[in-house]
Amino acid sequence: MNHYVTGSTVRELREKKKLTQKQLAETLCVSDKTVSKWETGRGLPDISLLEPLASELGISVAELLSGECFINANRSANLLRSKFYVCPICGNVIWAAGEGAYSCCGVSLPPLEAEEPDKAHEIRAERVENEWYTTVDHTMSKSHFISFLAFVTDNRVQIARLYPEQSAEARFSMCGQGRLYAYCNRHGLFSLRV
Ligand SMILES: [Fe+2]
Repeated sequence: MNHYVTGSTVRELREKKKLTQKQLAETLCVSDKTVSKWETGRGLPDISLLEPLASELGISVAELLSGECFINANRSANLLRSKFYVCPICGNVIWAAGEGAYSCCGVSLPPLEAEEPDKAHEIRAERVENEWYTTVDHTMSKSHFISFLAFVTDNRVQIARLYPEQSAEARFSMCGQGRLYAYCNRHGLFSLRV
């Protein structure tokens, strides 16, 4: 991760805004040569310029610093691109609208890649009135169990936390098409489009 604005970010955003180096330079009271240096990695904008630079480029300082694509992608993403993170130590479940950097119990968590359910983790969804009655026929022992089921549509996230010795089932209110998720503490995340 970058800790300061990069030249490629400045260039991409400037071009997106259809500004020339000269136009951007003028609004910031620097020379076009200075802007060119930032964009080619031969110089960095002074910290006092970050706010006016970000505002000129139409983004926040945080976005400017982290790289435009990352945050903009999240902003425009629908929830079907959402990500789950699970702490391997305490089992904490984190949901995010897009990729981010999360840690728990001192471990930095990778975004989980959902797989197609295999035979042992088959997700069954039955329509019961206005709900998806969701089940996974899977062991629920203390050492191997489904720790959550979730239903994500483009405007809503429903998560049912499950514990050993319960059955692996949950009811989710139907609110459009979406994706069902099941997470097994041993085998990872599985998802099914419904
Ligand atoms: Fe499993």
